[in-house]
Amino acid sequence: MKSFPFIYNEPREFLSSLQPKEWANFFLGELNPRFSVTATKAKVIEVKEETSDSKTIVLKPNWLWKGFASGQHVPVTVEIAGRRVTRFYSLSSHPNDKYLQITVKRQKGGLVSNFINQNIKKGDILELGEASGDFVLTKELPKDLLFLAGGSGITPIHSILRSLQTLNYTGKATLLYFVRSYDDIIFKSSFDSMQKNSNWLTVHYVFSDIPKEGYASGFLSKEILETYVPNLKSSSVYVCGPSPMQTKALSLLEGLPVKSELFLLPGQNVGKVKKEGTVDVFLTLSHKTIQVKGERSILEELEEQGIYPQSGCRMGICHTCVCKKQTGSITDLSNGETSQLGEENIQICVSRAESNLELEL
Ligand code: FES
Repeated sequence: MKSFPFIYNEPREFLSSLQPKEWANFFLGELNPRFSVTATKAKVIEVKEETSDSKTIVLKPNWLWKGFASGQHVPVTVEIAGRRVTRFYSLSSHPNDKYLQITVKRQKGGLVSNFINQNIKKGDILELGEASGDFVLTKELPKDLLFLAGGSGITPIHSILRSLQTLNYTGKATLLYFVRSYDDIIFKSSFDSMQKNSNWLTVHYVFSDIPKEGYASGFLSKEILETYVPNLKSSSVYVCGPSPMQTKALSLLEGLPVKSELFLLPGQNVGKVKKEGTVDVFLTLSHKTIQVKGERSILEELEEQGIYPQSGCRMGICHTCVCKKQTGSITDLSNGETSQLGEENIQICVSRAESNLELEL
């Protein structure tokens, strides 16, 4: 005889185990997996290949989606091998577009970026959180704007440039887009069309790995800025890219108004290893002691050992990973400061163990 799942064999028991909101979510989910009264779910409408290692996911969110401003990012949750994993991605579309878009580039060792590129297809459902972040345009638009993008750091900048286009921006904007090679350029046709249909935008591509005739090559430098940004001294600057580029930009642009959004690649938020051997981390809620090397963030070291605390942005922004350190010392990788031994809340995605620790996990 065909056996039905518990929810159909024992419907009364199943329904009584549900809270009203879960009850509503269950039935709405049976009607349409995008429907929910508590979670912002979005259906994948299209998957577009941008380059050999990046894809744009076009999403239709449910009614709980509250919108976003160009330049903001959104937490995206996917289920990988039965585990819910969240990462933050910048929205690459314009806020008035019919659908949302995130553009995800594969990162070496990046669990979610690789999963999305390999597995997400039309019809799938992703869970979103609220958009946030202050990497956005100011109310009063500066007359000179400079955008510095590195690799996938182009995604929020693409959305911001589209906003400037809609606002009929009357100033001058320069985009310097640092990317490995011509084939790695994301949104080339969109930038071409923006440049063609406006007189406010100039785009320069700079290739770090494979030079191409007629294009600049190298990394961000004083010479490149002087060559391609005639109005540098009066520019307001937006920088989005990996941390070495951010650091370089901040040193070269001292004195200018700069907004920056950091892109951390897996394992990149690590300073030099300070010591040899391991330290003990006692997890007080699960009564487990594990050994970590203090070579990477505590979050990464826990995950490597099969322990998955809640996390989101993994770069010290969203506070999803905050937990109480009861004893022990950590280094905050975002500012290099080493903590006292006492009790305090820490963000384990940007904290490295310096001594034995007790964490409320
Ligand atoms: S995961 Fe966002 S602050 Fe740690």
